[in-house]
Amino acid sequence: MKRKILLLLVLGQVLYIGSVAGQKMIYKDSEASVEARVKDLVSRMNLEEKILQLNQWVSGRNLNPNNVGKVVQNIPAGLGSIIYQNDNPIARNQIQKNSMENSRLGIPMLFGFDVIHGFRTVYPISLAQACSWNPDLVTKACAVAAKEAKLSGIDWTFSPMIDIARDGRWGRVAEGYGEDPYTNGVFGSASVKGYQGENLSDPYSIASCLKHFVGYGESEGGRDYHYSDISRQSLWETYLVPYEACIKAGAVTVMASFNDISGIPATANYYTLTEILKERWGFDGFVVSDWNAIDQLIDQGFASDRKEAGYKAFMSGLEMDMKDNVYLDNLAELVAEGKIPMEKIDDAVSRVLRIKFRLGLFDQPYTPVVDEQSRYLQPESRAIANKLAAESMVLLKNDAQTLPLSKSFKQIALVGPMVKNKESLIGAWATLSKADDAETIFEGLNNEFGNSVVFNYAKGCDFDGNDESGFKEALEAAQKSEIILVCLGEKKEWSGENASRSSIALPDVQEKLVEALAQTGKPIVLILSNGRPLELNRLEPLSDAILEIWQPGVAGGSALAGILSGKINPSGKLAITFPLTSGQIPIYYNMRQSARPLQGKYQDISTEPLYWFGHGLSYTAYKYNNIKLSATKIRKDEKLTAEVEVTNTGALGGKEAVLWFISDPAASITRPMKELKYFEKKEINAGEKMLYRFEIDPMRDLSFPDADGKKHLESGDFYLIVNNQKVKFELVD
Ligand code: BGC
Repeated sequence: MKRKILLLLVLGQVLYIGSVAGQKMIYKDSEASVEARVKDLVSRMNLEEKILQLNQWVSGRNLNPNNVGKVVQNIPAGLGSIIYQNDNPIARNQIQKNSMENSRLGIPMLFGFDVIHGFRTVYPISLAQACSWNPDLVTKACAVAAKEAKLSGIDWTFSPMIDIARDGRWGRVAEGYGEDPYTNGVFGSASVKGYQGENLSDPYSIASCLKHFVGYGESEGGRDYHYSDISRQSLWETYLVPYEACIKAGAVTVMASFNDISGIPATANYYTLTEILKERWGFDGFVVSDWNAIDQLIDQGFASDRKEAGYKAFMSGLEMDMKDNVYLDNLAELVAEGKIPMEKIDDAVSRVLRIKFRLGLFDQPYTPVVDEQSRYLQPESRAIANKLAAESMVLLKNDAQTLPLSKSFKQIALVGPMVKNKESLIGAWATLSKADDAETIFEGLNNEFGNSVVFNYAKGCDFDGNDESGFKEALEAAQKSEIILVCLGEKKEWSGENASRSSIALPDVQEKLVEALAQTGKPIVLILSNGRPLELNRLEPLSDAILEIWQPGVAGGSALAGILSGKINPSGKLAITFPLTSGQIPIYYNMRQSARPLQGKYQDISTEPLYWFGHGLSYTAYKYNNIKLSATKIRKDEKLTAEVEVTNTGALGGKEAVLWFISDPAASITRPMKELKYFEKKEINAGEKMLYRFEIDPMRDLSFPDADGKKHLESGDFYLIVNNQKVKFELVD
C-alpha cells in the first residue's frame, strides 16, 4: 500500500513538472497579445519585483569599458528603467544581460534618455522647428534622432516638450514649439510620429514622452520650477490642448511637470494625471516623474516626508519614480499598511510592462552593435538637419533688399562672438553632441562664397562682460568692408532648464558693439542665434536686415550661408512673439480682448510687440487673392471650405506657409481675439500660384471647452482670418 502511494506521488510529481515544463509561459510567447503577456507576467510577480519596475535610476555617464562591470553590479537586475547617459551599445547590452539573466522573471530594462533636438545629428531647437511650419520635416528629423539613439542603446526619449511658452524669460521656451496650443499639438504629434515610427517595435523606433504635464511654461515670472497659477479654463483651452493631440497621435509615455498647478503640484495631481489623462483620454501608457520631483513635493509644501510624497504621487497616478527612490523606499510599507491597494500597484506595473512589450524589448532586448561612423551624421541625416535649419530661420527685417548679399561685394565684415562658436550653434540640451560635428558660421560662409569674397573677421566682444577692447578690431574690419554681418546671440547655457533671465535683451556689450559699428555708416545685417525671443528695440533701428537663426544645430553654418547668398529663400515665420521690451511680457497673439480696446495702453512705450507670432519675410513677394468660402452660413453638422490662392509675384521661387485663424467675437465664455486652427506650407515657383484650402469642421474648429473640458459649439458669427483678410460667416443650429 505504502509503495503504491509513493508511486502515485512520484508519478504525480513527474506529471506536474512535465506539464509546467511543457507549458510555454504566455509572457514569453511573442505570438501572444501584449495584454495577455502583461497579465500573465504581473500574475507571476511578487511585490518587491513590481515595485522595482516602478523605479528609474541614472547611469552611464563616464562609462568606460573598465567600469562597466562595476556599474552593472550596482544596478538591481529587476529595476524598471535607467536614464542611460551614454551612447555605448556594448555597455547597454551588458546592463541588459544582467536584467534578462539575473532577474527572476527575465524582465528587460528600459533605457531612457533626453534626445531633445537630435542625438548626434543635432537639428534646430524645437522653438526653431516650429518656425519652419514644416511638420513633415520635423518627423523626418525625429526619425533620424530615433535611429541614432536606438543604435546607441536607447529605447525611450523624454521628448517632445509641448509646454506653451509665453514668457521668454523662461529658459525652457527653447525646448517647446512656442506660444500657440495648436502649433505645439501639430509639431508634438509630428515628432511622436518620427520617434515612434509606424510601429513601436520597429528596429529604429523609440518611445516618446510628452512633457511636462502640465502648465510648466506658466511658471511665475519665467522663474524655472516655480508656482503656476492656472485656472481650469486656461488649463483646458490652452495647456492641455497639445497633450490631447499628442496622446491621440499615439505617444506612449508622459512626464509630470515640476510646477505646482494652483496649489496641487503636477507630480501629485489626481485631476490631471488620472481623471484627464487616463479616464477621459484613455491613455494606457505610463507617467514618469520629472527628476527628483516626488521628493520635491516636500519642498513644495505638499508632503511632510518622503513617504507621504510617495503616497500622494502614486495615488494620483504617477507610475514611475525618476531617480529619487521614494517609491523603492516606501511603496512596500504603504501596501503593507493597506494604504495602497495591490490593484493600484498592478495597474502601474502593467502600464510600464505594456510599453516594454510594445517596444519589443522582451523579444529583442539587445541593441545591435554598429560602429559610430555608420551610426551618426550620415549624409542623408545631415541633409535633413540642413533643410530644417534653413526653413526654421526667420528673416525679421530686410530693408531695401539688403539680403541676399549682393554678388558685387568683395569684402564683407564678419563680426561678433557667434561667428566661430560651435557650442552655442548646437544649442541647449544636446548632451551627447560633439562641438566638432557643427559647422561654424565662419566655415559655412567661406564654403559658400569660396574665393569670391574676403570675410574680414573680428570677434568684437564676448557674449557678456564689459570688455570693449575688441571693438577697435571690429571697426577696422568694418571699414575695409562693404557690408557688416554682426553675429550676436546667447550662449547655449542661457537657455534650457534652470536658465531663466530677467531681461530678454542681449547684454549691453553686444548692443554697444552694434552701436559702434553703426557709426561707420555701412549697412548692417544682424544675425541672431538664441533660444528665446529677444528684446531688439535698440538694435532694430541700427540694422538694415535681421535674420533670426536660433540655435540651428550641426548644419547651422551652411544653412545660414545659403540664405545669405540667396541660394535659399527664407521661409520661416515666428512661432513666438518678440516683445518690444521685457516689460511687455506676457504678450502673445491669442490674448483676449480688453474691456477698452482703445485704452489701457502703456504710457511709456508702444503696446504692440516688435514682431508678432507669424511674422517672417522672404526674398520674394506673395500676393493673397480674396478668400473664397463655400458658404457664408453653415449648420453645425456641415463643413465649410475656405480657399485662398497665393501668387508668387517675385522673381524667386519660395515656400509660403499660410496660417488660418478663427475669431469668435461673442460667446458664453470669452474667446481669444483669434486662434490658429490650421496651417500649410507649400512651394511656389516664381510667377506661379498655389491654392491653399482649409476645411472647417465646426466641432473641431469652432467649439471651445469650458472649465471642465466640456466642449461648447455655439451658433453666431465667426471670422476667418488669413494674412490681412478677415471674412465673416455664420454658424446656425
Ligand atoms: C528635466 C526633464 C528631463 C529630465 C531627465 C529634468 O530635470 O526637467 O525635462 O527630461 O530632467 O533628464
